[in-house]
Parts: sequence; structure tokens; C-alpha cells
Amino acid sequence: MSAPVLVTDREALAAELARRPGRRAVVMTMGALHAGHLALVSRAREVADVVVVTIFVNPLQFGPGEDLDRYPRDLEGDLARLAEVGADVVLAPAPEVVYPDGEPAVRVSAGPFGEVLEGASRPGHLDGVLTVVLKLLHLTAPDVALFGRKDAQQLAAVERMVRDLDVPVEVLGVETVREPDGLAMSSRNAYLTPEERERALALSRALRAGEQAAREGARAVLAAARAELAQAELELDYLALVDPATFAEVDPGAQGRAILALAARVGSTRLIDNVEVRLGG
Ligand code: PAJ
Repeated sequence: MSAPVLVTDREALAAELARRPGRRAVVMTMGALHAGHLALVSRAREVADVVVVTIFVNPLQFGPGEDLDRYPRDLEGDLARLAEVGADVVLAPAPEVVYPDGEPAVRVSAGPFGEVLEGASRPGHLDGVLTVVLKLLHLTAPDVALFGRKDAQQLAAVERMVRDLDVPVEVLGVETVREPDGLAMSSRNAYLTPEERERALALSRALRAGEQAAREGARAVLAAARAELAQAELELDYLALVDPATFAEVDPGAQGRAILALAARVGSTRLIDNVEVRLGG
């Protein structure tokens, strides 16, 4: 595979896109790319002729006191990894390119998605995500955009935005890529000490325990996951069983597909993970 063409401004992006006909896919990232991101790019390669990857640490989706300043950045390493999986164009703009007038006065509201789970814990986060996603969709004009199920609430909110605002793009969800021991891959795993990384395994263990109780219904799923977390040394933010489309909590008697989602702090690092379960078997 050849190295992708790197562009950092709108004009260069438009010129590179104009030169490349065919079905276009975009994979949006904040960089520090790992195998989870690369799975999205590989999938994009399968479903499109032209693969565009964006690398932008979006200030708008970070709250005060969050990790915007220390978020890992490694453009050179990212470009090398993307050359291996075969991206065509990489857009890595400075904040001034994405937000030429500073903070946008008008932004997308995540509505009810902004009020539960990630939305409740990180006020304004999903608004900031949807705003940059919509902007990057306009700038890259893809036929298909790929998002990871690792961030299931983000994926659901993007799908809903695309429907509610008639954005002409197909949204494709890609399965979560995990380390061999179960830990979901995340750029933030780089913050963990070896001892914290060990403790972080409780997240995926709890989800697996929940998954195994799915036949017995919603209450059993939550109880099994809670039992696993009770033994863990971490600070649980939330554990919830939600409707995959709306992210509203399901009833105790619910049947069918649901998402078991959790967030926890291990040391000073906040991690999220989720798994889809089929309630009632
Ligand atoms: P980031 O955390 O860099 O993730 C970029 C994309 O990779 C997202 O769609 C995310 O769900 C996916 N991803 C991350 N880890 C994954 C894993 N282990 N398995 C599968 N997919 C994984 O999510 C964002 O950036 C930002 O919010 C963004 C959408 C780029 C907007 O700024």
C-alpha cells in the first residue's frame, strides 16, 4: 500500500477529493491510532473506492478539566499505520482550519442523547461531537461514514442526527476491537500504569458476565455485571442497559436487543465500554 496524501487545509482537501472519483468513505478519528481505528479503515477500504481519514482532536467535545491538553498525539506514527492499511487521503487540520471564527456560535444539539450516560457525565460532549462530525461530513462529502461500536452512544447519536437532519450519508457501525485479554482498545489506554491496566480488565469482565445472563432478562444482566464490578478496584460512573437506538434505559421485562454500557474511572483515566445483548434468548 502507498502512503496516504496528507492535507491540512480545506483547499488542499477539496483538490485531492476532486482528483479521486468513485464511492468515498470517511473515518473520523482523534489520532493516536490503534487497531480499533485501523479496523474502521480496513472496512472502509472494503466498501469504498476512496478512503479519507480525518485526524483532529476536537476541542469542542472536551469539558473543562478533561484531557484535551494531554490527549496523545502522534501524526507521524498515525500516517505510517495508515499507509499499512491503505488510506488515500488524511485530513489533519489545525483547530483554526476547522473553526475559523473560533468557537461556533451555532452547534448541533444531541437532544436526549446529551442527557443520559455519556451525555449526563460529560455535559456538552455529544453536542461537540455531533457538531464536528457534521462539519467533517460537509468537508469530506462521503457516501459512507464509519464509526466504532466502542462508542455506541456516539454512533447512535450520529445515526439519529443523519436521519433527523437529512444528511446524505450512509452510517456504518464497526465491531469493537479488543486486546487479547478483553480490554477494549482506546487511545486513552496509554494513560494506564501496568497495575491500572490490570484493574481495567474488570470493565470487559463485567460486560461478559452480563452477556452470559442475557437469557434470564434485564435484571439478571445488570445483577451479573454489578457483581463483577463490586469486586473491582475502580470508580464506577454508570452501568446501564439501554435501547440501542435511543439509549433510554430498558424496562426490567424488556426482550430483544439491548446495549449494556458502562463507564468507570481507573486511577485518573476514564474508560467506557459496552456490549450488545439479546434479552430473553
Ligand atoms: P476516536 O476516539 O479517535 O475514535 C475514532 C473512531 O474509532 C470512532 O468511531 C470510535 O468509535 C472508533 N474506535 C475507537 N476505539 C475502537 C475500538 N476499540 N474498536 C472499534 N472502533 C473503535 O470517537 C472519536 O474519536 C471522536 O469523537 C470523533 C468521532 C472523531 C469526533 O471528534
